[in-house]
Amino acid sequence: MKSQTNKEKKRPWTAIILAAGKGTRMVSPLPKVLHPVAGQPMLANVVGACRGAGIEEIRLVVGHGLNLVKSVVEPWGVQTHVQAQQLGTADAVKSAQPDSIEGNVVILNGDHPLIEAEDIQHFIQEFEASNLDLAVVTAELKNPSAFGRIIRHKGRLAAIVEAKDASAETLKIREVNTGIYLASADVLSEFLPQIQNQNSKKEYYLTDLISICLENQLKVDAIKGNKKVSVGVNNQLELARATRLVYRRKAKRLMEAGVLMIDPWTTYIEDSVEVSPGAVLHPNVHLKGKTKIGAFTSIEPGCFILDTVVGESVQIRAYTYLENCQIHTKASVGPFARLRPETEIGPEAHVGNFVEMKKTKFGKKSKAGHLTYLGDAEIGEDVNIGCGTITCNYATDKKKYKTKIGNGVFVGSDTQFVAPITVGDHAVIGSGSTITKDVPERALAVARGRQIIKEEYVKVEKQNEAES
Ligand code: UD1
Ligand code: CA
Repeated sequence: MKSQTNKEKKRPWTAIILAAGKGTRMVSPLPKVLHPVAGQPMLANVVGACRGAGIEEIRLVVGHGLNLVKSVVEPWGVQTHVQAQQLGTADAVKSAQPDSIEGNVVILNGDHPLIEAEDIQHFIQEFEASNLDLAVVTAELKNPSAFGRIIRHKGRLAAIVEAKDASAETLKIREVNTGIYLASADVLSEFLPQIQNQNSKKEYYLTDLISICLENQLKVDAIKGNKKVSVGVNNQLELARATRLVYRRKAKRLMEAGVLMIDPWTTYIEDSVEVSPGAVLHPNVHLKGKTKIGAFTSIEPGCFILDTVVGESVQIRAYTYLENCQIHTKASVGPFARLRPETEIGPEAHVGNFVEMKKTKFGKKSKAGHLTYLGDAEIGEDVNIGCGTITCNYATDKKKYKTKIGNGVFVGSDTQFVAPITVGDHAVIGSGSTITKDVPERALAVARGRQIIKEEYVKVEKQNEAES
């Protein structure tokens, strides 16, 4: 076998991610690699790191819970390869059919979710710069516990010994195998079949590839990685720790970019979220998915915001729940507001406490201050929606109907709009009305029981009794 030379053109990289193991210590019905770390299945972090490093072809080795794992990863364009029996890490890599790969391969663990694109890029650069045939990524750990130990002779990599098979002396070594390898696909095809399972676990250890390749005079070396890439998730506590690390990393990056965080340790922002400099995030805020927060916007405590675009200088007040909405500049929403999907709040609009909206376009400078439900509605500009207004959008035919309210309309408190309804510009709706017919422009509509006065209704003696 010939080592590649720099003169050859760059060989493409493929990732093989090992994820067939059971994850017994998770004690959970969910396959381990689908457990969420900071809002997404931990596999998504590993796959995202590969993609970020420019690796297009990703082969995932699946075993336990394979149907569920396949259904999650196949939409990401990841190939799955079934390892029928978990016979060890070397057997797992074989299941990914390296003989059908052209170029180089990076092997990663599906349960090491802290790895990032830059880490993979760095390993690839080192591998290519030294013209290696095989590399293992190592890390120095204070407490190397169950990790495979890196054995060096005169400073050069010689072998990896599993903790279970190691002598007391070997266990003192603090340089460990992170479980990340880089190799040319040819090396994998040729030498994986030579690995035997004569060890304490009767498994085919991928780690044995190191000594086999060294015996065959190939260029093998260790690449130093940071501690983070060695962090694996094996139980619920480790899952929670990994989640915390990912949230902290994101918080740190946002603060470095000028986002104000009152208490970054209790603020939970997913990696996919964008926050502009000058925004203020209070404690216990959850920002998820495709959310974007504009500059000078303040998100008060306890808000949950998913897939929502919030403009500049917006106030999202405490305990507000937003899902798939758009909030334009200088609007204020909450406290205790709930805006459901496809709601758009115009610039300088105000949505107050205990207001729920769904599929509603709420115009510029309009106000709905208290206790209101607007669904399937279009509200113009400068509209005042009185306390307790309800759009009755759902009919007995189980269909949804629209309410359209023009510009400058004044809606008195405790009004119901029985949709479909259209209210013209500048109309006025009297308080307590149940509106069942369209209202023309500038008209007054009142639809409520007339007030009756019965004089002397309460007898004088009765009144005295009540007062005594
Ligand atoms: C492995 C390494 C060890 C290293 C450690 C880093 C071996 C023999 N040992 O040990 O040197 O320090 O990783 O985390 O490789 N898997 C399969 N199919 C199998 C067996 C495992 O897909 O048949 C997958 C697992 O789901 C997991 C990964 O491979 O994602 C690692 O397997 P695991 O059993 O956790 O290996 P360790 O004993 O931790
Ligand atoms: Ca009423």
